[in-house]
Amino acid sequence: MSFPKSSKVCMSNFCKLQISNSPVVVSRGNTSSDLMLIGEAPGAMEEELSLPFVGRSGQLLNSLLNIAGLDHEKDAYFCNLVKTRPPKNRVPTMHEISLHLPWLFQQIKLVNPLIIILIGSTALHAILKTKSKISQVRGTWHNWNGINVMPIFHPSYLLRNPSKESGRPFDLTCSDFCEIRRKLNKLQ
Ligand code: URA
Repeated sequence: MSFPKSSKVCMSNFCKLQISNSPVVVSRGNTSSDLMLIGEAPGAMEEELSLPFVGRSGQLLNSLLNIAGLDHEKDAYFCNLVKTRPPKNRVPTMHEISLHLPWLFQQIKLVNPLIIILIGSTALHAILKTKSKISQVRGTWHNWNGINVMPIFHPSYLLRNPSKESGRPFDLTCSDFCEIRRKLNKLQ
């Protein structure tokens, strides 16, 4: 498998990708995990630590996994569609995503997860090639190349909508993680 081995190799690839000269953020978590979480692109904290989902969004994801009885270090592998922080934290373009996708596909091959969680609408649209809104398809199962895939709300959206009331985004996402746990138990 041609998986990038050193940051030198990665950086030379990313120069060609023309996104930025920022550090490459590849993954965190367990490479043997049955559960893979795919986000959009690293933010400021992720860039600083060279690890995905280590800021407030990442902490919220850790808690949601915990609510479902899953451990973020042992039971999950986190990565992003795009491995460098887009300028001014803008949403990566489809062209930028398409340049980074081959690397993501290598990660999926390497980890070989039973379940993939697509975090937010950018990951949903890039992987499932759908125009559906995240609010319409979150919490539903899809088959992508034989892998069970579920889109969920992005944690940054939950941070902006913090109500814990029944039926609100946070509550719906807790239910999604419980369903993910149920499916994992069934598949393992
Ligand atoms: N948001 C993302 O989509 N990815 C990260 O790594 C952090 C925040």
